[in-house]
Amino acid sequence: MDMTAVRIRPITEADAEGFRQAVGMVGRERIYIRLTDAPSAEDALAFVRSNIENGHPQFVAEHAGDIVGWCDIVRGDYEAEKHVGSLGIGIIPAWRERGVGRRLIEATLEAADAAKFLRIELTANANNERAIRLYESVGFVEEGRKRSARLLQEQFCDVLVMGRLRLSPQS
Ligand SMILES: CC(C)(COP(=O)(O)OP(=O)(O)OC[C@H]1O[C@@H](n2cnc3c(N)ncnc32)[C@H](O)[C@@H]1OP(=O)(O)O)[C@@H](O)C(=O)NCCC(=O)NCCS
Repeated sequence: MDMTAVRIRPITEADAEGFRQAVGMVGRERIYIRLTDAPSAEDALAFVRSNIENGHPQFVAEHAGDIVGWCDIVRGDYEAEKHVGSLGIGIIPAWRERGVGRRLIEATLEAADAAKFLRIELTANANNERAIRLYESVGFVEEGRKRSARLLQEQFCDVLVMGRLRLSPQS
């Protein structure tokens, strides 16, 4: 596969269906994320629209017109949590471990830093070592562990809470 042909770019409304399908592929694996199927077309479009309209960074990885991965950082709803963004990321199976996830998260975090998100948080299944290594490498630290917080494939799974602060240039 030609990696140079994978483009990382901000999402557009026209990508909503490709995004929806990519989420469905990852969700139906029932291993990594809390969704276990694709969102409805309506919900996917509403999510993408809201991110564009509200300046929430959302990037996609595109190959030959197909969406092969996404990363989004959604700002908190409450006044007291407007400095906080919640991050989600996924790459479809065939494109994993080829550097796409790193490129996607770096582009999305750069946009979040430019948009002055001061804290970014996420959750990851505690056994998702690949994702956790990636998160640590871009500045996330483990902040807590929710025990048996997900039930996937009849197995309870602990969930790590991770956060990345940019309250000052050093944090
Ligand atoms: C987790 C995920 C986003 C990583 O993206 P990717 O494109 O597969 O990973 P990359 O090739 O960009 O590698 C990025 C980093 O991940 C880590 N990584 C990759 N493969 C790994 C492996 N087999 N074991 C441990 N760490 C690994 C490394 O830190 C790597 O950094 P480096 O190779 O630059 O040093 C992707 O695999 C994925 O979407 N997985 C399924 C869905 C998912 O887990 N989503 C996150 C839910 S919290």
